[in-house]
Amino acid sequence: MNAIDLDDLKAIKKIDEDGMLKTIEDFPLQCREAVDLACGLSFDIPSDMRSVVVLGMGGSGIGGDIAKVLLEDELRIPFLVNKGYLLPRFVDDKTLCFAVSYSGNTEETLSGFDQAVERGCPVISITTGGLLENKAEERSLPIVKIPKGLQPRAALGYLSLPILVVLERMALIGDKGQGIQETLAILDERAKNFSPHKPLNQNEAKILATRLCGKVPVIYGSDGPTSVAALRWKCQFNENSKVPAFWNVFPELNHNETVGWELLGDITDHFLLLLLRDAEESERVKKRVEITRSLIEGRFGGASEVWSGGKSRLARTFSLIYLGDFVSFYLAALNGVNPSPVERISVLKRRLSEE
Ligand code: PA5
Repeated sequence: MNAIDLDDLKAIKKIDEDGMLKTIEDFPLQCREAVDLACGLSFDIPSDMRSVVVLGMGGSGIGGDIAKVLLEDELRIPFLVNKGYLLPRFVDDKTLCFAVSYSGNTEETLSGFDQAVERGCPVISITTGGLLENKAEERSLPIVKIPKGLQPRAALGYLSLPILVVLERMALIGDKGQGIQETLAILDERAKNFSPHKPLNQNEAKILATRLCGKVPVIYGSDGPTSVAALRWKCQFNENSKVPAFWNVFPELNHNETVGWELLGDITDHFLLLLLRDAEESERVKKRVEITRSLIEGRFGGASEVWSGGKSRLARTFSLIYLGDFVSFYLAALNGVNPSPVERISVLKRRLSEE
């Protein structure tokens, strides 16, 4: 298959039948709306909560992963993202729960919601509707009602930022206003820099996608922003570009995975190493990344470093995530696949519902 020219907007639009590019380009706007929606939410929850749990899977659950990373340097109570059917024993009426499901019909999230309600947790739902909305409405529980018509992974602003805003309004974390403003400014700038109108030779997202074409991405992050960004890049390569992708984090990967790049060089030659970097990473992590790169780079078909932008944790996290969204989109275009549908997820859910 001949890959398309990434500067040919018409060819891109032909592949992108369901308009994923527009949703990605509109992401800064989505983030603004998400903050407004959460600011307008009315809820009455005591602020003496002892833990926070986010219930959510896949493109919705990652909203919780992002919130966790953004808050881990200041939230004084434990924060867990629960990805499964069962709630851990510690969850009780002093646990603030967020049930996050774009469709509102994800069975694991609904199961967690039922258990949370049974245990007397205050629960805030973030959804477009579905059974989750019905269940929350029946019990008069607060709902952040977000717009329909997107793929869940394309609704990341709606699925993550309301968690931050609610915790800020409950005074469980400090004021996020400045970080949000910085993030929005960086996203606006990046939307221009990674736009399809920016030619390939000046467009980091198109350059990376071109390097990745025909390769399996292996994405490494470290503590904080780059860890969740690595996970997000992996999922976006899977779902938008329809390719396998793998991720891991420093320092843990130094204690196992680093050794795994020793054999099978004729296979790993088809892999591309992507190192997500952050100006705030510790000196020890920096050293680890550098040593590891020198040890394993030769086993890959190439390696690239990508740096976050901005000062606040929020800006650094979202700047990386946003670049990954564009890269995965352009890689879908190069692969000649419509980035939007996730046929296998739909089939799986359908079959599960039949049994
Ligand atoms: O990207 C996707 O479509 C999936 O990862 C979904 O987000 C996941 O299956 C959960 O569905 P929902 O987001 O509707 O709760």
